[in-house]
Amino acid sequence: QSLQGQAQADGGSGVETATVIGAGTMGSQIAAVAALAGFHTYLVDIAEEPLAQAVDQLRSRFDRDVEKGRRTREDVEAAWERLITTTDRDAAAAASDIVVEAAVEDLDVKRRIFAELDSVCSPDTILATNSSNIVPSRLAEVVEHGGRMCNLHFFNPALVMECVELVPHHGTSEETRRRAGAFAEELGKTLVTLKQEIPGFVANRLLNAIRREALSLYDQGVADFPDIDAAARTALRHPMGPFELMDLVGIDVVYLIRQAEHAQTGDPEDLPDPAIAELYEAGRLGRKTGRGWYSYA
Ligand code: NAI
Repeated sequence: QSLQGQAQADGGSGVETATVIGAGTMGSQIAAVAALAGFHTYLVDIAEEPLAQAVDQLRSRFDRDVEKGRRTREDVEAAWERLITTTDRDAAAAASDIVVEAAVEDLDVKRRIFAELDSVCSPDTILATNSSNIVPSRLAEVVEHGGRMCNLHFFNPALVMECVELVPHHGTSEETRRRAGAFAEELGKTLVTLKQEIPGFVANRLLNAIRREALSLYDQGVADFPDIDAAARTALRHPMGPFELMDLVGIDVVYLIRQAEHAQTGDPEDLPDPAIAELYEAGRLGRKTGRGWYSYA
């Protein structure tokens, strides 16, 4: 029995080599997490430039981690040896036991990627997307072996955040659920397993519920936003309140996600909250513009 087969029989993922597609905010760090955890890892993008940028950013991040004593120089150098950047997606994917796609959030782009991967990967290779908004059934439709398709949803920054959500579609095989979950745990992450797909998954739905209630309290004039934030911080022990978090994420991001939800459902409940629309139209987009709910002088 091969090493890979043995690991799988022992309840492990059976993954030795991983490919991460898209070297942006998420993909670069997911690849770094995999390389640090001991996997041979390919980081793929469509051009050399994003790959070079990812390498630069990871280098300085690792250097900082070593300086601060969060990682050893040996661990970081060993991870570099396992991390290969390439634009040859198909060769990387064909050599991998799992592919985690973290390319742009565009359904057509992702469908094209998975349809092409389906023909180059072995049928045992797990196909996962990191998408926050696209449920796996929408991608499994274009994949012949749809049983190997799921979402593995990491949080930003992936090197730091512990949570990974495993989101199956109705056709995801038991074997894929088990192996993809084992892979997330082998990355050192805390696995949150969904039994079925739902837009927003679990963590972002919890966050949305808190934000909706916070905005409703504010709109009704029940309390001012700094007081609502103070309640979340001091009574619920959240690291920041919902209004502070909106400023950090960007008012534009909050606004555009709601617009996209409304376009999908047609439900007026899903329209951006009037207070959010007002800030968005005034260009008060949060920390990045120096002003959102709060002012950042
Ligand atoms: P990003 O825009 O920072 O990076 C996307 C990368 O994909 C770019 O480097 C781009 O060149 C590359 N790319 C585009 N088309 C490609 C293709 N056909 N093949 C290979 N690479 C391609 O995006 P980000 O923020 O990293 O998001 C990526 C995915 O992760 C999205 O699906 C998003 O929903 C998800 N996500 C994002 C989070 C965030 O906070 N940014 C959190 C959790 C999930």
